[in-house]
Amino acid sequence: MIIGSPKEIFKGENRVAMTPESAKQLQKLGYKCILESNAGINANFSDRDYKEAGVKIVKNPEQLWNDSDIILKVRGPDKTELSKVKVNQHIISFIWPGQNKPLLENLKKKKVTVQAMDMIPRISRAQKMDALSSMANIAGYRAIIEAGNQFGRFFTGQITAAGKVPPAKILVIGAGVAGLAAIGTAQSMGAIVRAFDVRPEVAEQIESMGAEFLMLDFESDGTGEGGYAKPASKEFINKELELFREQAPEIDIVITTALIPGMPAPKLWPKEIVDLMKPGSVIVDLAAEQGGNCDVTMPNKTVETKNKVKVIGYTDLPSRMATQSSNLYSTNIRHMIDDLTPDKNGVPITNMEDDVIRGATVLHNGEITFPPPKPKIAAIAKLTNKEIKPKTAEEIAKDKIDAEKKAGKLQVMLLIIGALITWFIGIYAPAEFMQHFIVFILSCFVGYQVIWNVSHSLHTPLMAVTNAISSIIIIGALLQMKTDNDIVSILALVSIFIATINIVGGFMVTKRMLAMFQRS
Ligand code: NAI
Repeated sequence: MIIGSPKEIFKGENRVAMTPESAKQLQKLGYKCILESNAGINANFSDRDYKEAGVKIVKNPEQLWNDSDIILKVRGPDKTELSKVKVNQHIISFIWPGQNKPLLENLKKKKVTVQAMDMIPRISRAQKMDALSSMANIAGYRAIIEAGNQFGRFFTGQITAAGKVPPAKILVIGAGVAGLAAIGTAQSMGAIVRAFDVRPEVAEQIESMGAEFLMLDFESDGTGEGGYAKPASKEFINKELELFREQAPEIDIVITTALIPGMPAPKLWPKEIVDLMKPGSVIVDLAAEQGGNCDVTMPNKTVETKNKVKVIGYTDLPSRMATQSSNLYSTNIRHMIDDLTPDKNGVPITNMEDDVIRGATVLHNGEITFPPPKPKIAAIAKLTNKEIKPKTAEEIAKDKIDAEKKAGKLQVMLLIIGALITWFIGIYAPAEFMQHFIVFILSCFVGYQVIWNVSHSLHTPLMAVTNAISSIIIIGALLQMKTDNDIVSILALVSIFIATINIVGGFMVTKRMLAMFQRS
């Protein structure tokens, strides 16, 4: 069968659903690939690249739609494209069936089969096809880059001869795929990152990335189904707004990504909170397309408020990194087609028994099959009572205290055992040996406690200071100083001089290293 990919006609859409690399893989599955001329040009893939990958270039879009058994697209077909859809054709693209009922009805008339890339269930087996996550990951990264472009300062704190620059403080609201990507990017650029989400189980992920999870003193679990949140109560949102009101005057950049699928974006950063922010602050509202998390957001625009806060509402963040997003999206589609072609013979089979294919299929031979039933995996988990309940913030905190108590008990036990062994040795060993032995044990214990409690990131400065202290040469040299032999005295003096450089240098290096970790 022939797989074809037309040029995206939506204004500003730079992505392409088939790349030269994905075309090679599709041909291995037994398909022939065709592409509308210049379809990949905005993503930096030339017609020549495609030809070299064995793809036939078609000049006329009508011919492409006509010759293709399977159409790969980024955006769902619009009105002009609908007229080109062939009866019984197979289409794979973003569709948003919940919001696009008329599109489904129109496609139904053509008796087509449609797999919506936005309907891939979020289960581990389907991760390789999860186009929403691939695109959200890029959007989260790009949100930080766009914010940095509008923000007039460094992200990282710096001490320079010209003065001290404080690090930027960034708040990420909603720690789903886009939020976590934003946290990782901001963190790697040296900013102080704080994050909030209704789902308490993401606290650990946020903290493991080095950001601070803002706790809300409220008994609620916002965890819904399939890795998504459920709508928060009015009381919860009010508490959340209270928290954001406290943060707003301190925060330089806010990235809002809060969303519950199929619902308008919750208003979490209203105008009154924008007014509390410092001039020069930046807000990037990723939920702009769904109404925005911020009152001031205007889709696809950057607006500046009276108090000089810039609000970015771009809805095309993945398209702004078209090469990267086309690579990931086309790989997601290629994996989808791989699953649709179990015999690798260039003929797709829409197996409605397969959870992933069933979830993505919104039209099957002209029948609307949206919404899909819940994935069987969840049903099986429920039946066997093995459904893993996410932990609440209180449970996570309790687990931490329990673990600390357990570690404390173990240490006391080890101390008692150690004391008993020392006492037993003391009965038989000479007093002089015991004196050294006890000093040895105590130094081991103190050393262990000191090193174990130092955070990993500080191990390098710790090594430098340890190296300085361990300059035992100086003690030996001092002991040799009072000898009558002049040569020995001179050598001892030189040793003291060199060891002093080591000690002073070690402390200086440590001081400078520690300064790199200090934040105002
Ligand atoms: P996701 O569903 O993985 O994450 C959304 C997060 O928001 C979830 O962790 C959820 O728990 C959280 N959330 C929901 N209500 C909340 C509340 N009241 N307070 C705090 N957190 C709350 O979604 P994903 O894939 O990370 O996408 C995030 C947003 O980015 C969506 O609005 C999506 O449409 C948008 N997006 C925007 C793009 C652009 O170009 N602007 C491109 C791709 C995605």
